[in-house]
Amino acid sequence: MCGIVGFIGHGNVQDVLMNGLEKLEYRGYDSAGIYLAEGGQTGHLFKEVGRIANLKETVDFDLPAVVGIGHTRWATHGMATKANAHPHQSMNQRYSLVHNGVIENYQALKTEYLKNIQLNSETDTEIVVALIEWFANNESLSTKDAFKRTLEVIEGSYALGLIDKENPEVLYAAKNKSPLLIGLGQDFNVIVSDAMATIDVTNEYLEIKDKELITLTKDAVTIEKFTGEVVQRESYIAELDASDLEKGTYPFYMLKEIDEQPTVLRRLIQSYQDEQGQAVFEADLLKAVSAADRIYIIACGTSYNAGWIGRSLLEKIAHIPTEVHLASEFAYELPLLSQQPLFIFLTQSGETADSRQALVKVNELGLPSLTITNVKGSTLSREASYTLLLHAGPEIAVASTKAYTAQITVMALLADAIRASKGIEASFNMERELSLVASVMESILAEKAAIQTWVEDSLMETRNAFYIGRTLDYYVSMEAALKLKEISYIQTESFAAGELKHGTIALIEEGTPVIALITEEIVGAHTRGNVEEVRARGANAIVISMQEVARVDDQFVIPTVTTALAPLVMVVVTQLLAYYTALGRGLDVDKPRNLAKSVTVE
Ligand code: G6P
Repeated sequence: MCGIVGFIGHGNVQDVLMNGLEKLEYRGYDSAGIYLAEGGQTGHLFKEVGRIANLKETVDFDLPAVVGIGHTRWATHGMATKANAHPHQSMNQRYSLVHNGVIENYQALKTEYLKNIQLNSETDTEIVVALIEWFANNESLSTKDAFKRTLEVIEGSYALGLIDKENPEVLYAAKNKSPLLIGLGQDFNVIVSDAMATIDVTNEYLEIKDKELITLTKDAVTIEKFTGEVVQRESYIAELDASDLEKGTYPFYMLKEIDEQPTVLRRLIQSYQDEQGQAVFEADLLKAVSAADRIYIIACGTSYNAGWIGRSLLEKIAHIPTEVHLASEFAYELPLLSQQPLFIFLTQSGETADSRQALVKVNELGLPSLTITNVKGSTLSREASYTLLLHAGPEIAVASTKAYTAQITVMALLADAIRASKGIEASFNMERELSLVASVMESILAEKAAIQTWVEDSLMETRNAFYIGRTLDYYVSMEAALKLKEISYIQTESFAAGELKHGTIALIEEGTPVIALITEEIVGAHTRGNVEEVRARGANAIVISMQEVARVDDQFVIPTVTTALAPLVMVVVTQLLAYYTALGRGLDVDKPRNLAKSVTVE
C-alpha cells in the first residue's frame, strides 16, 4: 500500500527517494511522486501514474536538492491520476505533503476552513496541506505550529511528511495509526514507512509514536508531544539484510519465496526448539496461552486462511477451543467472549489496519494478546502483550506464500509446547514431523516442470475454477483459491466438498476445472464421491492427494506426512499452480493489479 520516503541533508536526494520508492513498489501502488526543495526557496514536483520507472524518466537527477519527500499511492480517495498522486501542495505551493492513511473528517474540515480555497485533487491529503497553509496564514502561525494545529483537528490514520519550501533546512513528520520511522545518518536523516526502503543508506532507526511531532534537520531529530514536551528515545539497529531484498536469478520474488519455505521451516524449528528438541517459548507467554479457556485467532487474507489450520492445531494438540475471525468484522461485532480469552493476531506485515483496529479493541478490554508476525517492531507486535516472529525473511511478492507456511509452523510449535506444559501425551514428535515436512516440500519443489506442464494444459484458458476439500483440505483450499485468483485473475472459489452439491454445482460446465485436495483418509472417500459428481457434469476434475490415500489416476501425489501438518505440503502444490498460471498468462506475478502487500487502511 502507500509508501513514504523523505530525506534531508548531504547526499543525492533524488537517488535516495527513487531507490526507496523502488523498494516500496512491492507493497502495491498505482502512482508515485517526489518533491524536491533547493536552498533558495525553489521547489520541484514530479508525479506520474503507473510504475516508478515512468516517474524515474521524468525526474531531474541533477537538481541541487537539500530535502525531498517521495510517495507511492494506492488509490483510496479518488482515481489513480496524476492530480491525485502525492506529494500534494498548498494553494501557493509553499507546502508539500505526502500522506499514508485516511483522513476521516476531511469533508467537514473542507467545509469549515477551506470554502474559498481552490483544490486540485479529489484526495483527503490535499485538505491537510491546504489546512497547514490556512492556519499559517489566518492564525499567523509558524510552520511547526500550523502543522501542530492541523494535527489537532484531523481525525483518522496518517503518516505525514511535510516540506516548507521557505525553510528547506527542516523536514516535518507525524503519525497516527499508520507506520512511520526515522532513519539516522551522518549529515542526513530520513523518514520512511518501512525501514526496508532506506536500509542501504542507514540501519539505525528511531520509532515514532502516535501523535508526536517530529522535526528533522540534516544533523538533528527532535520528537515532541503536542504539549511541546520533548521526548528522548533510543535508536535501534534494524536487522535487515539488504541482500534479502534481491531476486537473485529468480524471475519473480514469488517463486523465490515459494522455494525458501523448507529453509524457513527449518529455521523455525531451530528458533523455537532447544538442542534436546524441547520447545522454547517465553514462560509468561506459555502460561498466558495455557490459561486461556478459548483462543480467538484474528486476521485478514492469507493470514486468516492460516488461522483455520492454526485452530485445528491448537484444538487437537493443545486442547484449547479456538475460533477464527476476520479482523475487519471482529472489531465491529464482538462475539460473546469466554471467561479467559486470549487473542492471537496473525499478520505477516504486522501493520494491517483491520487487524490493528481489532487489537485496539482487545487492548481497550484489557485482554491478553499475542501477535505472530514477520516484522519485528511492527505496530501489532508493539501493541500486543506478546510477539512471536515468523523468521521468514522479507516477503516481497504481494501474494503471500512463505509467511502462510511459517504462520502454521509457529502455531504448530506453540501448540506442541502448550501440550507438553499441560502434560498431554504427544501423538507425534513435532520436530521430527516438521523436518519431514521440510523434506517433502523440497520434493514437491523438484517437480515444478510437471506442475507447469499440467497448468499449461488445464488452467490457461479457463475463466473460473474451484477448489474442494474437507476439513483441513478445505482450509487449504481456501488459501489455494485465494492464491489463484490474486495473481491469475481466474475467478476461483473454494468449497467444503460436501457443500458443493447444495447449490454451487449449478456453476459446473463442460471443462470447468475442479481441483480436489485429499489428504485425510477419514473424509477422502466422501471427497472422491464429490469429484465423481462434478465429473459426471463435465468438470475437468483434478485430484491432489497424499500417497497414503492416493489412487492411480490422481494427478499429483505427495509423499505422506502426518495429517495435522499436511496443509504445509499440500499448499505448496497450489502455490505453484497459481504461479505458473499467472506466468503463463503473461501477468506481473509479484504485483497483481489492485492489490497491496500491506493494507494500512480499514
Ligand atoms: C493484504 C495482502 C494479503 C495479506 C493481507 C493480510 O490484503 O494482499 O496477501 O494476506 O493483506 O496481511 P497481513 O500482513 O496482516 O498478514
